[in-house]
Amino acid sequence: MTQHTFKEACRHLVGGVNSPVRAFKAVGGEPFFVSRAKGSKIYDDKGRAYLDYVMSWGPHILGHGHPALLQTLKKTAERGTSFGAPTWQEVELARLVKKAFPSIEKVRFVSSGTEAVMSAVRLARGFTGKKKIIKFNGCYHGHSDSLLVKAGSGGATLGIPDSKGVPEELAKLTISLPYNKIQPVEKAFHGGGIACVIVEPIAGNMGLVPPAEGFLKALRELCTRHRAVLIFDEVISGFRASFGGAQQLFGIKPDLTCLGKILGGGMPLGAFGGREQIMNCLAPLGDVYQAGTLSGNPLATALGIAMLTRLRSGSLYRQLEQKTALLTEPMREFVREKKYPVRINYLGSLFTVFFTREPVRDYASAKTSSTARYAKFFQILLNKGIFFPPSQFECCFVSAAHSAKDMRRTFEAARMALREIL
Ligand SMILES: Cc1ncc(COP(=O)(O)O)c(C=O)c1O
Repeated sequence: MTQHTFKEACRHLVGGVNSPVRAFKAVGGEPFFVSRAKGSKIYDDKGRAYLDYVMSWGPHILGHGHPALLQTLKKTAERGTSFGAPTWQEVELARLVKKAFPSIEKVRFVSSGTEAVMSAVRLARGFTGKKKIIKFNGCYHGHSDSLLVKAGSGGATLGIPDSKGVPEELAKLTISLPYNKIQPVEKAFHGGGIACVIVEPIAGNMGLVPPAEGFLKALRELCTRHRAVLIFDEVISGFRASFGGAQQLFGIKPDLTCLGKILGGGMPLGAFGGREQIMNCLAPLGDVYQAGTLSGNPLATALGIAMLTRLRSGSLYRQLEQKTALLTEPMREFVREKKYPVRINYLGSLFTVFFTREPVRDYASAKTSSTARYAKFFQILLNKGIFFPPSQFECCFVSAAHSAKDMRRTFEAARMALREIL
């Protein structure tokens, strides 16, 4: 019989997992292996329940295993799982995406956020005929070569690859700048040759960092002035910050938008879309090549339609915000009272607990957080049956299935954990 131990998993999968953060390296200990999930809970292979704030890293805004979504999947699967030929479902989903995001005039569906961003960057280069791209330190845009690049601390630094295997020649075309600062972007534009600026309009991959007042507007103006493509990577914030994402919340219109996560409701689905003039440069109309065997897959698009249809009606977003505040507001109050070196960033149904006194506004300030303290905090919560992200530099996700009782229970557990650590 197969042994169900982490050691056994490591004999067969690299690091025992299929995506690095799942291995718990940043927080220590061994990951649990999941048997099932329902509502706000995830269950390990021993039947232990955890109140889940990872939620598959964002897709399950309605909670795990929503009955109507599961029903859609079952029914769709009976008609076939992949055709490699167009379906009306893809057209219907494109219509829904365009309704949610008026900046999107045409859409292309892909199978992941990485693929969406990688293709959007190629399209921006093809459209403008320029090569350089500007991104921001601490923003993650998937693992394509051009985007696995960070800058040295502070200032406009030409890219150094974050990963072996990314050619320096390519990394040099990526300029990574501090988030929420506009002056370095202005300076970088003076060098010329900028094809696009890509940004998480609400940063979720250095922990949660909302955009500073005026930052996104200034990016919009600079891109327009210099004929560069503004790309909003809304893989996290799309259908999360509001139905129409961060662009709806802040009233800024990008040229291209990348989507993923909630769009597929837990199935592999991503999308990029935007101005028709740019999108028409894609094959088969234009010369920028992009394709996919499973693109527009019927299971994923059916789930997408079911998900978006539910999200666009009702007052879900206000409820999620109010529920999240049941945890984040008293926690802020508690750490203020105790004068603990803790900062809680939150926006809508996203939040992060940082172990620092400094306000966290960019990657440099996020990195002042004590990751050792975060690891302790994570382990104490896990022992109490609450699953926070196994890394400081990620967001917690609240879903419609989290109850007010869940939030209060988490506050009590977090308060005890902070007392123990600080
Ligand atoms: C903002 C953002 N962009 C892109 C990606 C990549 O998406 P995927 O993991 O589906 O490839 C992620 C993944 O977490 C993300 O958070």
